[in-house]
Amino acid sequence: MKALVLTGTKKMEIQDLATPEVKPNEVLVNTAYAGICGTDRALYAGLPGSADAVPPIVLGHENSGIVAAIGSDVTNVKVGDRVTVDPNIYCGQCEYCRTDRPELCDNLSAVGVTRDGGLAESFTAPSSVVYPIPDNVSLKAAATTEPISCAVHGMTLLNVKPYQKALVIGDGFMGQLFVQLLQAYGVHQVDFAGIVDEKLAFNKEKFGVVNTFNTTRDSIPADYDVVIEAVGLPQTQEQAVEATKKGAQVLMFGVGKPNQTFSMNTYEVYQKQLKIQGAFINPYAFEDGIALLSSGQLDVESLISHEVSLEQVEDVLNGKVAGVSKAVVKVND
Ligand SMILES: NC(=O)c1ccc[n+]([C@@H]2O[C@H](COP(=O)([O-])OP(=O)(O)OC[C@H]3O[C@@H](n4cnc5c(N)ncnc54)[C@H](O)[C@@H]3O)[C@@H](O)[C@H]2O)c1
Ligand SMILES: [Zn+2]
Ligand SMILES: [Zn+2]
Repeated sequence: MKALVLTGTKKMEIQDLATPEVKPNEVLVNTAYAGICGTDRALYAGLPGSADAVPPIVLGHENSGIVAAIGSDVTNVKVGDRVTVDPNIYCGQCEYCRTDRPELCDNLSAVGVTRDGGLAESFTAPSSVVYPIPDNVSLKAAATTEPISCAVHGMTLLNVKPYQKALVIGDGFMGQLFVQLLQAYGVHQVDFAGIVDEKLAFNKEKFGVVNTFNTTRDSIPADYDVVIEAVGLPQTQEQAVEATKKGAQVLMFGVGKPNQTFSMNTYEVYQKQLKIQGAFINPYAFEDGIALLSSGQLDVESLISHEVSLEQVEDVLNGKVAGVSKAVVKVND
């Protein structure tokens, strides 16, 4: 089978690999689409994602495809099913797994990070992380279930109510997902801050955003019950805390550099009784992600800017393809 193999730091090559064999509990998936995100850019550059990727490895933790074979113990899917695979595999034995916080697992492994993933014609995964998708969800949209599920996990960690007014900072794919998700979760007003005027306008026209702010020139009022930071820079993290009103919750979703810090007024944390919440990956969130796509509450196809081939992936990761908002790789027809 054709595979795009990460062979070293910033090195990738197309190779002809043997189609993987399935173990009794595993599923072989013929990849339809694989999504590319910032985590892939980090892994390509030799930096850790949710875990370390050790070359040679096939990336592709966001994916969709068709079941091509199942192991003897598999009962949840059959050959021919359209599926998406949650990349994250938890050990089930550590303190975190056994206290209902598997995302913090001490022995996390992941399809497309620590084991071969979707940037190949086929890949395997344990059946426990393979999810069938309904007929009305396209394979292209289903390839974004993983990032959707990360956002769903973030929403689950917040206490979201209809009376609240929310602000999303960050006009990338994740920020735009949160714009839609907050409304799906019942928040009555969503405002949006970013640096790309066209994206701000697009979300106002198409996805119900009320007010927009360009963070390079507009000041943001301290008026929000829920603020979602989806950039990961110190200045936007500061802006996120500053945009809160009393009793607010801040979701620090953006990923900063490992040694990054930001300043905040700790008197205001006390006086406003703020809740500042981190979010790591996507436990128990795939079913919700698929349901949000199937019900039409999330439109991701409008947010996918590029459909590329395996041969073009390195150019996307290198930043040689201009204007990428979200790229998916079409692997098989
Ligand atoms: N917590 C998790 O589990 C999780 C999962 C997925 C992604 N993430 C993180 O979420 C963040 C967003 O992901 P993404 O895929 O949308 O990334 P992205 O790179 O596509 O988007 C980042 C966006 O931030 C915008 N931006 C840059 N500077 C800004 C500023 N000063 N003010 C406002 N906007 C600014 C850019 O225009 C860009 O659109 C990243 O840090 C990513 O690592 C976290
Ligand atoms: Zn991703
Ligand atoms: Zn564990």
